[in-house]
Amino acid sequence: MKKEIIPHIKTRLPGPESKKLISEDEKYVSQSYTRAFQTVLDHSKGALIYDVDGNCFIDFHTGIGVCSTGNTHPEIVKAVKAQAEKAIHIATADFYHELVGQLAKKLAEITPGTKNKKTFFTNSGAESIECAIKLARYNNRRPRMIAFIGGFHGRTMGALSLTCSRLNQRRYFAPLLPEVTHVPYAYCYRCPYNLTYPKCDMACVRYIDEVILKKVAPAEEVSAIFVEPVLGEGGYVVPPKEFLPMLKKIASKYGILLAVDEVQSGMGRTGKMFACQHWGVVPDIIALAKALASGMPLGACVASRELMSWEPGAHSTTFGGNPVSCASALVTIKLLEYSLVKNAEKMGKFIMRRLKRIWDNSKIVGDVRGLGLMIGIELVKNKKTKEPAPEYAHQLAQECFKNGLMILECGPNSVRFIPPLVIDEEIADVALKIFEKSLARVERSRK
Ligand SMILES: Cc1ncc(COP(=O)(O)O)c(C=O)c1O
Repeated sequence: MKKEIIPHIKTRLPGPESKKLISEDEKYVSQSYTRAFQTVLDHSKGALIYDVDGNCFIDFHTGIGVCSTGNTHPEIVKAVKAQAEKAIHIATADFYHELVGQLAKKLAEITPGTKNKKTFFTNSGAESIECAIKLARYNNRRPRMIAFIGGFHGRTMGALSLTCSRLNQRRYFAPLLPEVTHVPYAYCYRCPYNLTYPKCDMACVRYIDEVILKKVAPAEEVSAIFVEPVLGEGGYVVPPKEFLPMLKKIASKYGILLAVDEVQSGMGRTGKMFACQHWGVVPDIIALAKALASGMPLGACVASRELMSWEPGAHSTTFGGNPVSCASALVTIKLLEYSLVKNAEKMGKFIMRRLKRIWDNSKIVGDVRGLGLMIGIELVKNKKTKEPAPEYAHQLAQECFKNGLMILECGPNSVRFIPPLVIDEEIADVALKIFEKSLARVERSRK
């Protein structure tokens, strides 16, 4: 049998069918979507995505970190179909459903810490964060919050008040929630304090304790510190090992809750079920979404039974905890536990080894960093001066796309690999060759 050539780009992009559909779409769909790639998607399978013109791409994008079990995994499709035939919606706010309880129990078991936890189900990452904000305030009646520069937590007004990633996400939307103090993240490649790890002695975290909580935001008024264990939209920044444990310690010292946003880094992406497990940190609140249900809309806010003891009606939702999404999430977790988290760890190492070589040989790759299959590549004009090169990041993502590899930009001048956790060495090898070729083209084109 003839082996399928992967990827396979047979038209100019966008192809003729895509072009027609795009021009209609653009008349009616909100322009606020960034629409990074000019193509109309049709169907997808495993690590491959096909557009309406029959072009086939390798998926290192996963719908922004969602389709971690691979696109349309047969077991997910089977579970979704089976549940859809029984009941598509049941209003979790008013009725009980077996799968909702089952999933909450499973989340209590797999999230760090004791099993004495409860879950509030949502439809998205932003909603999980909204829930976390309200839950923290409800519990300790403190109005202030701390979040990180470069952090992304969503775009609803509460979540946006914590988000501090790009100006266009915040511009014209003020006033946001008051009393959110943003502090620098442990971004060692560009240390905000111009220090070098480990000699810095984690000055960025100490600053929170020694300056912010003493001079800016009185500790007894701070309800929660919101943090991504690995910075996502802000540039796939992996902090040093001391970062999260130190934050937890500071939070505990003042009765502040540590709310960890695992919306992008959770569900096996980093080679552990949750990124905070790399550093043995047990958060007070965990926000989940994206890969939780392999593409069915579902988010979750998980916290101890003690915290989640707010009165009925204090927070609720119509769609959250949809049974089709819950069915998908239960199978997602089964697949992750069975092999995919391990595969993320293994394939992450494989890709990192290859990327390190590419990094050494490139004049415009300033940094390569990642955990598992959450990998960022930062582009610079000059490796010595580290001058950021956002235009190279953009050009590189587009060049990869033209050559059949879907990747995504992140931060001001980085690109990221977020492949499905089902990838093997063969597909990773093809993807890396496309990446290397595209990078060489960007490098040749620079002035
Ligand atoms: C870490 C993190 N938190 C929250 C969100 C918001 O999720 P959603 O777009 O589902 O609202 C995102 C989305 O990219 C994210 O990466």
